[in-house]
Amino acid sequence: MTPSQMHLPDWQEMDAAPEQGTRLCSLDAINASGAKGIDFENGDKRFSLFLVMAKDSKPRAYVNRCPHAGTPLEIFPDRFLTRGRDAIVCASHGARFRIEDGLCTSGPCAGKHLTKIPIETIGSNAYIARAQNSRGSK
Ligand code: FES
Repeated sequence: MTPSQMHLPDWQEMDAAPEQGTRLCSLDAINASGAKGIDFENGDKRFSLFLVMAKDSKPRAYVNRCPHAGTPLEIFPDRFLTRGRDAIVCASHGARFRIEDGLCTSGPCAGKHLTKIPIETIGSNAYIARAQNSRGSK
């Protein structure tokens, strides 16, 4: 099986995944560099996600795992975007993903998606969406 054929499990089944309603960060924290990485730990298990601000000023969240080889996308903290902040980029082999839906538009995993995490914003903070809001970003 090649890396691009690996099955990515539903994010909620991943080790140390946060519960619905978990506060993630402020919108200011995302806007500072256009993206914000957050890690959750449970014992020796770790779950990593990142939030990005889209052009519609609504944040999106994805599991920090490239569909090509399953590695985290960034090398430096919060560096998930291209220099022009117009796409998500994987630092390992340069795959680029649309901010709005996580579709890989170029690179070794073209046509695949990042795993989207439903979130909601309440006031100036982003949270893991609760069940009634779990279809996408609000
Ligand atoms: S791990 Fe190869 S492009 Fe992301």
